[in-house]
Amino acid sequence: MSPPELSMDLPVIDLDVFLNNPIDSPEVQAECKKAADALITYGALVLHDSRVSEQDNETFLDLLEDYFAQPEEVLKKDERPELSYQVGVTLENTEKPKCAVDEPCLNVIRRLAPSERPLDISGHQPDPKCRFFWRMGETAPNTQFPSLNADNIVPQAPHIKERWTPAMNKWGTSMKNAVEGLARMAAVGMGLDANTFVDAGRYGPHLLAPTASDLVKYGAKDTILAGFHTDLNFLTIHGRSRYPGLHIWARNTGKRIAVKIPAGRNYLLVQAGKQLEYLSGGLVKAGYHEVVVNERTLETIAMRKEKFPDRPLIRISSTFFWHLSSDFDLAPIPSLAAKAKEVRQKMIELGWDEGEEVSYPPIKVGEQVQNELKHIALMWWDISSMLECFLGYLKWNFIDHFGATERFAFMADCKQFKAEPGRLEKLKLNGRKIKEFTVTE
Ligand SMILES: [Fe+2]
Repeated sequence: MSPPELSMDLPVIDLDVFLNNPIDSPEVQAECKKAADALITYGALVLHDSRVSEQDNETFLDLLEDYFAQPEEVLKKDERPELSYQVGVTLENTEKPKCAVDEPCLNVIRRLAPSERPLDISGHQPDPKCRFFWRMGETAPNTQFPSLNADNIVPQAPHIKERWTPAMNKWGTSMKNAVEGLARMAAVGMGLDANTFVDAGRYGPHLLAPTASDLVKYGAKDTILAGFHTDLNFLTIHGRSRYPGLHIWARNTGKRIAVKIPAGRNYLLVQAGKQLEYLSGGLVKAGYHEVVVNERTLETIAMRKEKFPDRPLIRISSTFFWHLSSDFDLAPIPSLAAKAKEVRQKMIELGWDEGEEVSYPPIKVGEQVQNELKHIALMWWDISSMLECFLGYLKWNFIDHFGATERFAFMADCKQFKAEPGRLEKLKLNGRKIKEFTVTE
């Protein structure tokens, strides 16, 4: 039997219905069920929220284009490698798509029909995109994971500085409110209390995280701007970008979908991340996506060159990562895990290749994030950094300033320091230059 054919149009969920009617009304219940089903079936949906202002997105896109049009030496002032780039700017060719060395991810690509596969990431080149991380979260009162709570960086150029904080906060808050509304709808649609997910993410290190791709340098057809991957957070929400190029793979279609967010009508795109997959025991799977230069990107480049000759040719993604709190105990919710097994069985019976069954052992969210970082860090592990680390260890032995326990701790650092952002500072304090890593989202 062949698998069922599904529509390639992502479901459109109306947050207004949820916000403007009693929660137990039939229309709210139906819309919430539709939201949950969209996440289960596609791992993605289009969200309508009439509170979102297209003008705020335009202001944000203009600001980010102006920011990334600055010379590299100016942008470099906003880099914070010692904080693993978790605030401020990350310049191009730093982030690598982790899928290139991740066996389960490569398996996902192998199971796709050749015509539906992403652009080839096996060369494992870093993405030619820049990024800015702007924290939007409420700081946790007590946390085991303080390194994720660094202060934001405000760019200092006079034509950027004054506009920066209001524009970032305004657009970031709009997207945060929209995605939290959707998280409530999804919870109701899955038969949970409306606040189940939102409470679990109250102190999440949420990030407004636009990317910037220089289309003068990287504007050739089939250039990979961000290689095939999933996001490690709970839900990712995107405003409309000025340049097409985002492809997503809807979980149960096996098809590559070119995302189109209609202009000027308060629409946003939401995609499931790893934390939602984990908490739902695989009922919702994290959505794979890539950003590439496709035919429609080229058309838009040509159009904007003509219509806006004075504007920088930079593709800004309007992206917001919504996270669960780092100290939250992450384990599948039993009712969702049971439903996940049912859905999986049904799909297998319909002839769908669901791949290997994944297990989701209990873990702190902060550890889950660190495991993802560790995974990426491994790609940065090379002979020189290993040597550097052990030379540092020998030096410590000579100084004989530390007891045996610290030495062993440092040995452990040699194996792990790249995976734990909190350890970077500690190593730097001892005057050692180390190679930092960053995370692809
Ligand atoms: Fe992503």
